[in-house]
Amino acid sequence: MNDKELVARHAASWVEDGMLVGLGTGSTADCFIGELARRRKEEGLQVTAVASSVISAIKARALGLPLVALEQVARLDLYVDGADEVTPELTLLKGRGADLVREKLLATAADRFLVLVDGSKLVSRIGERFAVPVEVMPFAWQMVKRRLESLGGSGDLRPNAAKDGLAVTSHGSLVLDMAFAPALDAETLDNLLCRTPGVVEHGIFRGLASAVLVAADGLVEERWA
Ligand code: A5P
Repeated sequence: MNDKELVARHAASWVEDGMLVGLGTGSTADCFIGELARRRKEEGLQVTAVASSVISAIKARALGLPLVALEQVARLDLYVDGADEVTPELTLLKGRGADLVREKLLATAADRFLVLVDGSKLVSRIGERFAVPVEVMPFAWQMVKRRLESLGGSGDLRPNAAKDGLAVTSHGSLVLDMAFAPALDAETLDNLLCRTPGVVEHGIFRGLASAVLVAADGLVEERWA
């Protein structure tokens, strides 16, 4: 069992009968979906799921997990997802999968949000390894980019290599991947981005994680908020 499978199994062991569980997006979330489906099949676990992306919904459906549409959900028991960066304060950077709006909605509406990572995702500050994904209304991208550049940011629209064009989210937004100076901390950046017209959502998740489960060398460490 690799680290992603290990941490996914650990998280799936916390799911109880009757829970409504949010499914994240990405390779680690995929492992969790697989574990949840295994527990349902082998142990008869009664669980309903809501997906953060089309791709996770397809995976869950193929494995026989009962799904409800996001539109039907006002709250959920648990949301489980991966992350690209995790700071010591449990602030996260997410969004390489470009479904930020659904991911942040589910993380916010869940009683508990569990984040599954391996040690390579631990950083001292947000933006240490990746640019910050900023989801923008398509007609606003130039103005948002200019505004973020005036704050010292640099970056551009995310390309879609597979389609020889631009990455478009599942509800039609574009994504700017923007790097900022280390002096601009996550809280300041979060506030600035939230106050920028045309920004739909961004990849900094502050104060949302209940716990981060870190897999390393065959063990899982729990870090609680
Ligand atoms: C999805 O939009 C992302 O936030 C992922 O959760 C993040 O990129 C982690 O993905 P992996 O589990 O594949 O590393």
